[in-house]
Amino acid sequence: MRNIVAGNWKSNKSINEARERIAVMGAAMGSMPKDVRVMIAPPAPYLSELSGGERNGILIAAQQVSAFSDGAYTGEFTANMLVSCGVDFALVGHSERRADFGESDEIVAKKVRRCIDAGLGVVLCCGENLASRDNGSQESVIKAQLVSAFEGVSSEEMAGVVVAYEPIWAIGTGRTASAAQAAEMHSFIRSYLADRFDEDIAFRTSILYGGSCKPSNADEIFRSPDVDGGLIGGASLDTSDFQLIIKSDSSL
Ligand code: PGA
Repeated sequence: MRNIVAGNWKSNKSINEARERIAVMGAAMGSMPKDVRVMIAPPAPYLSELSGGERNGILIAAQQVSAFSDGAYTGEFTANMLVSCGVDFALVGHSERRADFGESDEIVAKKVRRCIDAGLGVVLCCGENLASRDNGSQESVIKAQLVSAFEGVSSEEMAGVVVAYEPIWAIGTGRTASAAQAAEMHSFIRSYLADRFDEDIAFRTSILYGGSCKPSNADEIFRSPDVDGGLIGGASLDTSDFQLIIKSDSSL
């Protein structure tokens, strides 16, 4: 199943609000489309509790993960630890991590490797900034990010990998890529995966769109055959909006 809608709560919500929202989402899962997997990435301190509790099929993701393995790395949490807490995925290479926490392509690649080795799913985020979009280099920017992130990754290992295309100029800005821009970039990413791995991997890999996706534009963005769902920031904080976006992703 390729369709996934993931909510990235970023650094928002208290533990009580998080509990309440997971409970509301869990209760709503019965009325969510059966062809869409639902994922939530809450703040790290809540991961263990939320992944270990009643979650009715909701996948739980960490918003980031350490590039190191277990050891003397004060403050880090590792892929092994996340797996031991029952966490399913980690977002890797989110643009806010790249821009605000100095995560280079090299660090992103290390994180991808840690997750794969630990058996943790990866949502690999890629995206160009406004300058690259304006000078037309978006495809080469995305390609460079993917080449680096997937260095040494085998076809078999791609089974645990989801790609999220998130143009940086559209994240949290209210400015969304047009459906045509999203379709074009997703198709570019899928053909890259076909070249780098094979057609089958390209077909099976979920490619999510992220960047000011909301109920009013999700239908149009998700209509492209290469857009398999979304990585939703702001609009995932409102449970009703998030549910509407999940429903927009159904192809049934
Ligand atoms: P946004 O965030 O939906 O608020 O633009 C998307 C993301 O950063 O994953």
